[in-house]
Amino acid sequence: MTEYRRLRVIKDETVHTIIETFTQPEIDAGDVLIAVSYSGINYKDALATKANTGVLRDYPMTPGVDLAGKIIASKDDAFQVGDLVLVTGYGLGVKQDGGLSELQVVPAVWCVKLPQALSEKQAMTFGTAGFTAALAVDALQQHGLTADSSVLITGATGGVGGFALHFLKQIGCKEITALSRKEDQQDYLTQLGATAVLSPAELFPEKNRPLNKQLFDFVVDTVGGEILAQVIPFVNYGGSLALCGNAGGIKLTTTVLPFILRGVNLLGIDSVEASPTQREKLWQKMAGEWSVPATLQVQEIDLTQVTETADTLLAGKHVGRTIVALGGKK
Ligand SMILES: NC(=O)c1ccc[n+]([C@@H]2O[C@H](COP(=O)([O-])OP(=O)(O)OC[C@H]3O[C@@H](n4cnc5c(N)ncnc54)[C@H](OP(=O)(O)O)[C@@H]3O)[C@@H](O)[C@H]2O)c1
Repeated sequence: MTEYRRLRVIKDETVHTIIETFTQPEIDAGDVLIAVSYSGINYKDALATKANTGVLRDYPMTPGVDLAGKIIASKDDAFQVGDLVLVTGYGLGVKQDGGLSELQVVPAVWCVKLPQALSEKQAMTFGTAGFTAALAVDALQQHGLTADSSVLITGATGGVGGFALHFLKQIGCKEITALSRKEDQQDYLTQLGATAVLSPAELFPEKNRPLNKQLFDFVVDTVGGEILAQVIPFVNYGGSLALCGNAGGIKLTTTVLPFILRGVNLLGIDSVEASPTQREKLWQKMAGEWSVPATLQVQEIDLTQVTETADTLLAGKHVGRTIVALGGKK
């Protein structure tokens, strides 16, 4: 019997990861079996490998909140053997085994058919990070973002941040400011689309004020916490922030003044339960006018290197996207 490999997060005296082998699982009605070609390492996947992060609902579990691959068995009429699909969010890699596995069973309703112009590798280069950035930029467009807007992106060297920069460049935004703690990444951020690159020390005053100089029409925030609290006072009258992340913490200490005196909007972005309509629309966009930029820093690794990459992400030292090659083993 053919054996397949997967990453497992185990909880005994400690929480740790192993790579184990398994044989082809049975599937139930409504499920598909996918030979996984690629998954990605998102911030949530990095957290999933550690204790007390609240990501995994059970142990042992295979993490990986996204995957792309080929269907090799189907018990749902909507998908046939041979279909190429991608999955992000829902319960993948959180409530049930995820993408860091050579084979995976998922409910067919979680699958998006891969757009023709997108390879499995490109789909996971975007992965949850690209899809989340697309949701954020789309939400801002619905709140008035145009090519004339000035936009700030926080956590700009990250996966979500990098794609947000690229999408805004594709829209033609004239003023795109990247906020990053990594002062050696200015050239990278400029190539991705930033017209200005600032460090938190350059942008923020020593003492945060409830209202500051109005500088940005829109913000894509991937950091949350203190960074978000410091950014809100800089948003222009009637502007909006799309809040997607918590890499800098989950607490938000702010005042009501930007909201009640400047009509600022704080928009929550959730990729996990995004509707099939949103998924269809934004994956088509990423396969077309927003396609993967050649300038994005992308690392390809195998299963044995996942925990090392997770540590780099959690230390805030990672740049761009890391994808995991699973081989699409039939
Ligand atoms: N809402 C959703 O559905 C959804 C979906 C995907 C991801 N997310 C969240 O979005 C965030 C970004 O995800 P990602 O996969 O792009 O992660 P990532 O690649 O690790 O990027 C996060 C970036 O945030 C900055 N950062 C990290 N730690 C920080 C800290 N302690 N203080 C300030 N800045 C810090 C870093 O950028 P610089 O060094 O350039 O400043 C880092 O590159 C994560 O919080 C993730 O959980 C949410």
